[in-house]
Amino acid sequence: MNTSTATQRIRIFDTTLRDGEQSPGCSMTPPQKLVMARALAELGVDAIETGFPASSQSDREAMALIGAEVHEPVLAVLSRCLPGDIETSLKALEAASRPRLHLFLSTSPLHREHKLRMNKEQVLESVRTHVEMARRHIDDIEFSAEDATRTELDFLAEVVGVAIAAGATSINLPDTVGFTTPDEIREMFRHLIETVPGAKDVVFSAHCHNDLGLAVANSLAAIEGGARQVEGSINGIGERAGNCAIEEIVMALKVRNAFYGFDTSIDTRRIVPTSQLLSRLVGMPVQRNKAVVGSNAFAHESGIHQHGMLRHRGTYEIMRPQDVGWPDTQMVLGRHSGRAAVEARLRALGYWLDEDELGTVFEQFKAMCEKQRVVTDADLQSLMQDDSSGSGYRLASMTVSDAGHRASATVELSDPDGNRVTETVEGDGPVDALFSALAAATGVDLTLESYQVHSVGLGTDARGEASLSVQYEGEEYEGTGTSKDVIEASALAWLDVANRLLRQRQGTPAGGEVAAA
Ligand code: KIV
Ligand code: ZN
Repeated sequence: MNTSTATQRIRIFDTTLRDGEQSPGCSMTPPQKLVMARALAELGVDAIETGFPASSQSDREAMALIGAEVHEPVLAVLSRCLPGDIETSLKALEAASRPRLHLFLSTSPLHREHKLRMNKEQVLESVRTHVEMARRHIDDIEFSAEDATRTELDFLAEVVGVAIAAGATSINLPDTVGFTTPDEIREMFRHLIETVPGAKDVVFSAHCHNDLGLAVANSLAAIEGGARQVEGSINGIGERAGNCAIEEIVMALKVRNAFYGFDTSIDTRRIVPTSQLLSRLVGMPVQRNKAVVGSNAFAHESGIHQHGMLRHRGTYEIMRPQDVGWPDTQMVLGRHSGRAAVEARLRALGYWLDEDELGTVFEQFKAMCEKQRVVTDADLQSLMQDDSSGSGYRLASMTVSDAGHRASATVELSDPDGNRVTETVEGDGPVDALFSALAAATGVDLTLESYQVHSVGLGTDARGEASLSVQYEGEEYEGTGTSKDVIEASALAWLDVANRLLRQRQGTPAGGEVAAA
């Protein structure tokens, strides 16, 4: 593929906070989005899509918080082709130093007929009118032809031509339902860039979903066809099977640079911390064998592989773990560690705090050192989880006994207003009793879908990590908890889920959310 020696740059447009956040179990509060946006800026993404302001008050708040602090990357918001949406989005973008309006309209026959109930002429007219309307107020406009890969190619060319003539500066061609193949998408980009008037003056962008597991392969093929921006999300979160995983496409371009001939502006050593930060914030564990960021991605267990690795790393590794941010050594903090060491470790984990926030976390760190000899990364992350998740129920103490024929659990919680609530409940086993006591204390009744406990670390520093997912009023929520004691880790994971859905309930505006693509 690489025919010249000069490397060009592919822009990385991150939609973790929009397409990623709108997927089940991944919702974030505005302060959590701010934490993530800071980490994405440190990672070096070119653009961050912060949300869909017309759909929720929470997305408007997130844009205001992020705009006040994150100035380097372009900040984009999604908007339908509707005057009211555009007005709300432009207002939200006033907070941004480098604002981009991301307008979208469906173009495929299926969407035109069943979703929009519009014919081709009406679609073209709407694109023209709304891009022109927006262009009177903002210079940076991205237009997305939703379901582009299932649209008739000649009609798609007309839509793209109209959007460019009306003033769009980026053209995004989403594979909305993850249906296309690498050959098809490469040809689609090549054809449109070669034939549509004005195409050479705008940036073409790929936005691929992963329904057939092809999102990264299709995005690479789109680049071969001329796309110079790729949209994706950290850990590949997003609608249904997710979006193109940023960590994977970035490492594919880096490791196979001699083939593709493209760079990105990503600091690859920040990839794993950013992935882990997101996993903690949304409570969704990263699949162990996930490329690049899964905990098995650099693990070698079979004798033949270990033998090969000892002779030469290159036998079974195509990239160095340190290059994507896996730590060389586990740094251990304890009661002699100062504020600067804690701050450095938090930064390595993806948390960039201001002076006040650092002061609060350092106090909590010192309190933790009174109770335990060392404070690990997992401990720091659990402190940050408490800190960034906002208010909710906190575990003050718990006892679980399994002596007689029935197990019994007593939990003492502090509620969101700081009041103490204590409940004792019996159950069929310690975990059943514990979860029932937590349900009685919070008034939240959860139906458990899955519950897993595994150990993190070794020897005296080993921790139990519990993760669970639940169904609540038809929605799926996930949560994690870490502690030296697996039963306590389970209680923390349960509370993580309960707090998430309580916040979700409070945050949903009257009239509900507007569903996006
Ligand atoms: O998948 C999609 O089509 C989208 C657009 C709104 C960009 O997310
Ligand atoms: Zn999408």
